[in-house]
Amino acid sequence: MIDSVPKSMILGTGMSVPEKILTNLALEKIVDTSDRWIKERTGIEQRHVAEPGTGVSGFAAEAAERALENAGVSADELDFIIVATVTGDYKFPSTACLVQNMIGASEATAFDLSAACSGVVYSLKVADSLIRAGAARHILVIGAEVLTSMVNWHDRDTCVLFGDGAGAFVLAPSLDGRGIISVETRSDGALSDLLINPGCGSVNPPTAQNVAEQMHTIRMKGREVFRNAVSSMTRSLNTALDRAGVDATQLDLLIPHQANIRIIDAVSKNFDIDPDRVYKNVSRYGNTSAASIPIALDEARREGRVGEGDLVGLVTFGAGLTWGAAILRL
Ligand code: ACO
Repeated sequence: MIDSVPKSMILGTGMSVPEKILTNLALEKIVDTSDRWIKERTGIEQRHVAEPGTGVSGFAAEAAERALENAGVSADELDFIIVATVTGDYKFPSTACLVQNMIGASEATAFDLSAACSGVVYSLKVADSLIRAGAARHILVIGAEVLTSMVNWHDRDTCVLFGDGAGAFVLAPSLDGRGIISVETRSDGALSDLLINPGCGSVNPPTAQNVAEQMHTIRMKGREVFRNAVSSMTRSLNTALDRAGVDATQLDLLIPHQANIRIIDAVSKNFDIDPDRVYKNVSRYGNTSAASIPIALDEARREGRVGEGDLVGLVTFGAGLTWGAAILRL
């Protein structure tokens, strides 16, 4: 099929995770939890964790270089670099600017995008709009987090959930029918207190007292987040499918945000989709927030689970609250 208006297609993908693995059994020694509880309630068995003090930019740059190589695009051909992260190296400059320097993308405009776990689907919406408008030819979208830098290791409600890593996409215009068919994003700031890192910003700057009170770590109302995740992801994927004019049975692969196996299963059950066509790697990485979907798509491509011409659904949910879904043909 020949399109008259370009779509934006994923030309290449890449990922990078820290070498160090933290198993549930190792967590049992840090906090009052058990391998059995974590597996049953979340599906997580292990997560990759960065050494304390390691910046997220290194993982982002490595994922980016792998995606560029996979795409056959050189760094100086990039017009934009968007890094979706809530754990940038610094408050400023942006992690995207650091990555730009690391990979030598001298012609790019680089900026960070903050939408927690939904960051990459939000970034796809921005990148897709820029490409369709003719404002860019090559865009690098990276989802990267070192979430363990904001984990309270004494809080068993949250510390068992998160992991570190980065995934990247290179996007470019396509006229052959491949690319993003629909991308749907939403948010609801009225529910911002359900999942929040209250410290380090202008309300609770890093004073000795705020740090002592663990203000700089993640606070979460898990059950409410769970309920909202299932309903928002279901609604969002329905809208994205409708806008794309396809139904779930036509998807070759659905990649949900990897937060909890029970959320993934509950969302998938709301659609007529074979469980084998739902990608799951939460057992190995935990919740890597913005990195989870690009890591999963990169793995799925390398494993041969999807290839050129396949129809893929992405669906996500995160702090904000934010959520979104995309349908794309690879
Ligand atoms: N180990 C052992 N017991 C635990 C642990 C743990 N790590 N954590 C909680 N418990 C206990 C609780 O204290 C509670 O005990 P009680 O019954 O004696 O009070 C019991 O387990 C049940 O706790 P719940 O919170 O009701 O457990 P639930 O089944 O809801 O699972 C979980 C908790 C896994 C956090 C779940 O609610 C969840 O996944 N929520 C969504 C979280 C999420 O996805 N967050 C990320 C969103 S994306 C982003 O933007 C980062």
